[in-house]
Amino acid sequence: MSAEIIDGKKVAELVRTRVREDVAEWVGKGNRAPFLKVILVGDDPASRVYIGAKTRACEDVGIETSTEILQDTISAKELKDVIRMYNTDDAVDGILVQLPLPSHLSSHDVIETINHKKDVDGFHPMNVGRLALDQPCFRSCTPAGVMELFKYYSIAVKAKHAVVVGASNIVGSPMATMLSRENSSGKATTTICHKYTRDLTLHTINADILIVAAGQPHLIKAEMVKEGAVVIDVGINRVADETSEKGYKLIGDVDFESVRKKASWITPVPGGVGPMTVAMLMKNTLLAAKQSIYPTD
Ligand code: GUN
Repeated sequence: MSAEIIDGKKVAELVRTRVREDVAEWVGKGNRAPFLKVILVGDDPASRVYIGAKTRACEDVGIETSTEILQDTISAKELKDVIRMYNTDDAVDGILVQLPLPSHLSSHDVIETINHKKDVDGFHPMNVGRLALDQPCFRSCTPAGVMELFKYYSIAVKAKHAVVVGASNIVGSPMATMLSRENSSGKATTTICHKYTRDLTLHTINADILIVAAGQPHLIKAEMVKEGAVVIDVGINRVADETSEKGYKLIGDVDFESVRKKASWITPVPGGVGPMTVAMLMKNTLLAAKQSIYPTD
């Protein structure tokens, strides 16, 4: 078998086109353009790259954005005061604090300070809790993007055995919630594996749908995958590559070349899940502007 390639770039562009049209309609009705405030603490180069991609996407769809860069020595109180200022600023629809934060700051504490109605990342406990309860909420962008890919390619989730490798708050955990809820896009029997899982292959080999978000280059080899499985690779790992101009290349958590011979569907890295994350952020920011999840009370 040779897997069909899931084209995240193409689907992300379709999502962005839809958001672009909806933003134009929203603004055409006399509303101001949606506004996303990004907060970066410190100067992490990877965070700057991610923020660059988010900023370009905003410009592309007609969402206004600005990034506030704060010193990495900022105190928790000072940072939370900045967030509280944007919480009450009616000109700001979405607030995104880029992670990771410097080690002296608690990301839980900081995320909880964000007004959940502006939490377009879907990380606030109110949104995580509402996701678990199957209530309207901002959903974490990467797992929401994976669900969008299933929808686009008509990949059935219901009654399948989905195995998620990685249990992070950003990807693995909300991914498992989305797959397992008894709603129209879920209903999968879902297993979560993590670094304490004793025999990873025992689980992955039984997966009809295998989603890997472990942050370990080429963790998943062909012998760990069931014939005909749907394989979604969330990993983006930089590895040294002398043949490339940059001196590195991006590879996933899945050994693509061997696994593609066994899977029915597979996402490449880059060009798979990555572009979907940014596209879903655009969707969430427009939703926040329309307040269609949390209407004004
Ligand atoms: N760091 C890595 N991924 C993300 C993300 O999706 N949102 C934020 N805020 N920080 C991140």
